[in-house]
Amino acid sequence: SHPAPGEPMEIITAVRGFKDILPGETERWQFVEETARKIFSDFGFKEIRVPVLEKTELFRRSIGETTDIVEKEMYTFEDRGGESLTLRPEATASVMRAFLEHSLHGGDSVSKLFTFGPMFRRERPQKGRYRQFHQINVELLGSADPLVDAEVIHMLMLFLERVHLKNVSLEINSLGCPGCRPAFRKVLGQFLSQKEKDLCEDCRRRLGTNPLRVFDCKVEGCRAAVSSAPLLIDYICAGCAGHFREVQEGLKVLETGFSLNPRMVRGLDYYTKTTFEVTTKALGAQNAVAGGGRYDRLVKDLGGPEVPGIGFAAGVERLISLLPEGMEGVSRSPDLYVAALGPEAKKIAFRLCNGIRRQGFLAETDYSGRSLKSQMKRSDRLGAGYTLLIGENEIREGKALLRNMKDGSQGSIGLEGAEAQLLSLLKAR
Ligand code: HAM
Repeated sequence: SHPAPGEPMEIITAVRGFKDILPGETERWQFVEETARKIFSDFGFKEIRVPVLEKTELFRRSIGETTDIVEKEMYTFEDRGGESLTLRPEATASVMRAFLEHSLHGGDSVSKLFTFGPMFRRERPQKGRYRQFHQINVELLGSADPLVDAEVIHMLMLFLERVHLKNVSLEINSLGCPGCRPAFRKVLGQFLSQKEKDLCEDCRRRLGTNPLRVFDCKVEGCRAAVSSAPLLIDYICAGCAGHFREVQEGLKVLETGFSLNPRMVRGLDYYTKTTFEVTTKALGAQNAVAGGGRYDRLVKDLGGPEVPGIGFAAGVERLISLLPEGMEGVSRSPDLYVAALGPEAKKIAFRLCNGIRRQGFLAETDYSGRSLKSQMKRSDRLGAGYTLLIGENEIREGKALLRNMKDGSQGSIGLEGAEAQLLSLLKAR
């Protein structure tokens, strides 16, 4: 609604849990993304970009009906054509959809894909938790080899090291396969039903649908109940146990430190066998920087052929909040600042600056008409390398004053041919 006449108009703010990433911070994002691109490409991964909006059914089928994400966190709406659509809460499902839709399994037997982008989950916002957040996401499809698990985990840890993340720990677990899980589900179900009165309402319901989810519940009573519960790792079949052993051996060969966490279940239902999480103590409650695992049934469950896969996602906001000071990557300063006063000088500055930019240097000027003194101040504040001063006297004499901002030395250069002269100075810098 419009304000009454004379009253100021209220500004419109961003949606709760959605945040802007401002200049000064974006340099850190670029650093993180460039580092990821380089390392992933060294490991043979290629970039894929997928839409942020998908048919709701895709997430229901892949992430699982009884997960927190699908039960209560998705931004789902009916579009104007009556179709149920969802803003993606994660990227794996979309990458699988694209993989199937474009038959990427046709050519090379292994597909290595990575993608960056925003994800959407309607959780309660708090430090390190947003409703729109960003992931760096990696998927490797077409190999069930445990060495591949070790390699993908190793690549993640290498990436975290290259962005100078300190004090992170890697935890791994195995969730077994559809062959060994039903037996465990029964054992766990029996154990938990004896503790039913201690469980929260959600978990009581989960007893019938997906008892493993109780391991993920943050409610005190439920945590106490699972603290003595039987563990899936003790029930997995010989094949899964052997696979998991080889993953650990592979990690040791690559000198990637890890610890075992038999209570880690992950918040998505598509995982089989190896799962992993990287956490840090520096983040408080939202301590997971990255997570992932193997999903050997997912492609088939989405209607495709039997293609095993493994992947992970790192949360970019959390990662960036952990970068050490000084890792921001330098924001660029002007190579040249042209301080100009008067219509004639303004025209020269306009031509000069744009000519210099075309040669790949950052030139800045100011069309505000404020005093040369205040323009000089601005040049200083922006950290310019050189300042060229063009006032009325300079126009009359056909020469401008050039100041080296680093050492304060100055000299004059002819306005005729100034561009060429400045360029040779800048190139020599
Ligand atoms: P996830 O564990 O749900 O896994 O998310 C991965 C990471 O995203 C988390 O470790 C965290 O850093 C970040 N994250 C999650 N939710 C939020 C939030 N609300 N605000 C800020 N950061 C958040 C997945 O999404 C799987 N798709 C990973 C994967 C790929 N598994 C196999 N391939």
